[in-house]
Amino acid sequence: MVKVNDNYLKLPGSYLFSTVGRKQREYQAAHPEAKVIRLSIGDVTQPLAPAILDALHKAVDEMGKAETFRGYAPDLGYEFLRNVIADQDYKAKGCDISADEIFVSDGAKSDSANIQEIFSLDNKIAVGDPVYPVYVDSNAMAGRTGSYDKNTETWSNVIYMPCTAANHFAPEIPKETPDLIYLCFPNNPTGATVNKAQLQEWVDYANKVGAVIIYDAAYEAYISEPDVPHSIYECEGARTCAIELRSFSKNAGFTGVRLGFTVVPKDLKAEGVALHGLWARRHGTKYNGAPYIIQRAGEAVYSPEGREQLKKQVAYYMNNAKYIYDGLKEAGYTVSGGVNAPYIWLETPNGMTSWEFFDYLLEHANVVGTPGSGFGPSGEHYFRLTAFGSYENTVEAVDRIKAMKI
Ligand SMILES: Cc1ncc(COP(=O)(O)O)c(C=O)c1O
Repeated sequence: MVKVNDNYLKLPGSYLFSTVGRKQREYQAAHPEAKVIRLSIGDVTQPLAPAILDALHKAVDEMGKAETFRGYAPDLGYEFLRNVIADQDYKAKGCDISADEIFVSDGAKSDSANIQEIFSLDNKIAVGDPVYPVYVDSNAMAGRTGSYDKNTETWSNVIYMPCTAANHFAPEIPKETPDLIYLCFPNNPTGATVNKAQLQEWVDYANKVGAVIIYDAAYEAYISEPDVPHSIYECEGARTCAIELRSFSKNAGFTGVRLGFTVVPKDLKAEGVALHGLWARRHGTKYNGAPYIIQRAGEAVYSPEGREQLKKQVAYYMNNAKYIYDGLKEAGYTVSGGVNAPYIWLETPNGMTSWEFFDYLLEHANVVGTPGSGFGPSGEHYFRLTAFGSYENTVEAVDRIKAMKI
């Protein structure tokens, strides 16, 4: 008789954002008059930039003519896109990454979930705590994380690296040696970053102990400070220890369009085996490529017009981030993030748990945020607000929070 993958049965509760969504719907049904503002899920709200729309229209027209029609995309992605990524995201910034080390995909969520497949189940992962939930859940589904303890909300076979106010929300090298290290900077959910020297320490450490870093740079476009690295390949030695994940979701508003890429340098080896070959094999077998139309839209992100328009879009969200950060500070909250990332991370007032504050905020300000505890145990007593709303909604939400008694 057929059996299920019982690793799935070990997964705790429902996915964080499903719970947030359900609670919002329940509140709205009970209070139909309330104008609830969502500063919760990290989804963008600004429309696609004109340069991207033009590229999409043009590519759609090409698909309608036999001479320019395209079917399956090449395994790694179209060269026109991989070349422009290699040139602008890497070579122009002094990083030694070539086009054939770039794997185009439908986004960083699937890549961050799938990348663990090329590693043995015997590997032990280390994650920041709090963390983007996909890293741990995908390893749990594969059977790499041991058993789940409901009380501590942790897995027995995961190394958690607490990110707290004491370490400025940047993980420290753990006592136990991990095999796979997930790092995400700028960070979701805390909005924290590390400087180049700090990231170099991780690269040196990984090379020393023979670990691989999965570096999620989905929010790279939001970096505003000069000493914050945009890519892990800015660090010396990263080619032999790091895989980098990138997304077009947050820099170009592609959350619904879907495009991303993963960089696997050819020098990166485990047990003498090049990981590039393994990921290429996986990609070729299990994935048929991002659509031609979307890859052309991705190319437009790098055009002079696209770059200019998207710079403004990022600035729009970061203006929201500043409004939230300043407003909450003024209202007496302890806040961080929001400078190199579209996330503001705040301490819940009066010792409320993250979910208590979620309910309080929904009821008293009709604002939805995301409970920090949903991202890991060290996120308890914290709360995440996103800058991805419209300016008008952001202002109204912050003004309501400021007026709310705490
Ligand atoms: C850290 C991080 N990585 C990856 C993703 C997913 O990106 P994509 O839309 O490219 O799948 C997100 C989305 O919120 C994220 O926060």
